[in-house]
Amino acid sequence: MSSVCGADPVSVWSFRNPVDVRFGAGRRGDAAALIAGKSVLAVGTKRGRGQCEADALLAPALAGAASVTWVDSVMPNPGLADVQAEVDQHAGQSFDLVLAFGGGSAMDAAKALAACLAPGIDTRDLAQLIARPGELVGPSALPIVALATTSGTGSEVTPFATIWDHANAKKLSLASPHLFSRVAIVDPELTHGIPMAATLSTGLDAMNQAFESAWNRNRSPVTMAMAARAIALAFDALPVLAQGENAAARAQIAEASLLAGLCISQTRTAICHATSYPLTAHFDLAHGYACAFSMKAVARLVDIHAPEIFDDLVALGAATSRANLLAKLDAVLAASGLAEALNAHLPDAAALQALASEMHTPGRADNFPISMDGGRLEALLADSRAV
Ligand SMILES: [Fe+2]
Repeated sequence: MSSVCGADPVSVWSFRNPVDVRFGAGRRGDAAALIAGKSVLAVGTKRGRGQCEADALLAPALAGAASVTWVDSVMPNPGLADVQAEVDQHAGQSFDLVLAFGGGSAMDAAKALAACLAPGIDTRDLAQLIARPGELVGPSALPIVALATTSGTGSEVTPFATIWDHANAKKLSLASPHLFSRVAIVDPELTHGIPMAATLSTGLDAMNQAFESAWNRNRSPVTMAMAARAIALAFDALPVLAQGENAAARAQIAEASLLAGLCISQTRTAICHATSYPLTAHFDLAHGYACAFSMKAVARLVDIHAPEIFDDLVALGAATSRANLLAKLDAVLAASGLAEALNAHLPDAAALQALASEMHTPGRADNFPISMDGGRLEALLADSRAV
């Protein structure tokens, strides 16, 4: 049997993801048994709280908890100071679990709160926890029940939380195996009605994360199989969602997002994410579009310098050939409004070059199996801005 990993076999690998994953329409009904009789810290946006409290399945679940305390102040790209203020406000209370309800920002804030509010923790200073998670985030972090309401980050199944130091335009990462959710519920019905721009941006993040786990030194046969399915689902779903509401496409992109999240929970992300963070920090470009910014150019690099990766994805069903994979990627990026988003937010290519040094993120860019030295990153930025 030939290796699905072609000329660059990934023959030594591990896989550990302890999350109890529940997927499918109506699965949010599982929340009732999980939170019954518990003291719950619920974390989300104001809009998310409204959605949760009005939901026919979730409202009775909340009513069955012993108590529900809401942190509903979550904003996009949650800031260090804002999350710390919530930690300080709730430090004197005790909770049985954190209910994370929302998209990536709600999940990230919920993970930070679960860490900082852990009983008996040495410090409740989030900046310190981010600097030394191994020392300070212990097994006592509050258990998280995550309900995803967007299809994008896959944060419900990863042990990472992105927190922003807005004062210094810097992205921070809290990462610890103790931040895996206890249970992750991905119910596509929760994503119905999300506005088009958010649907496409988050969907691009899901598709991008599947690719990022593939063009990644940490890929394994398990992550490649999930990535190939996630890519195929995203290729089908995103052009349909660009035309309007569609329940079947919502379910497809929700599954793609979940699978891509499982992939990056093992591999972490790579060059597109490393490139994205300064674009979000400096130009307020939505995360999904910021990740998609460099995809076309990165895919060309992979096709030339590591074609075995795309051969594997094709063998696993992502597309019918390498050329077909590239063509479908280009079509999905075009259908998802990428050029319009970039033109609305980003300066010209020359101005972007000044950010190159911020894009060499350790633990991200170096997961990419192709060297970006020797001016390759600068060329990538110029090519990407020319979309
Ligand atoms: Fe992402």
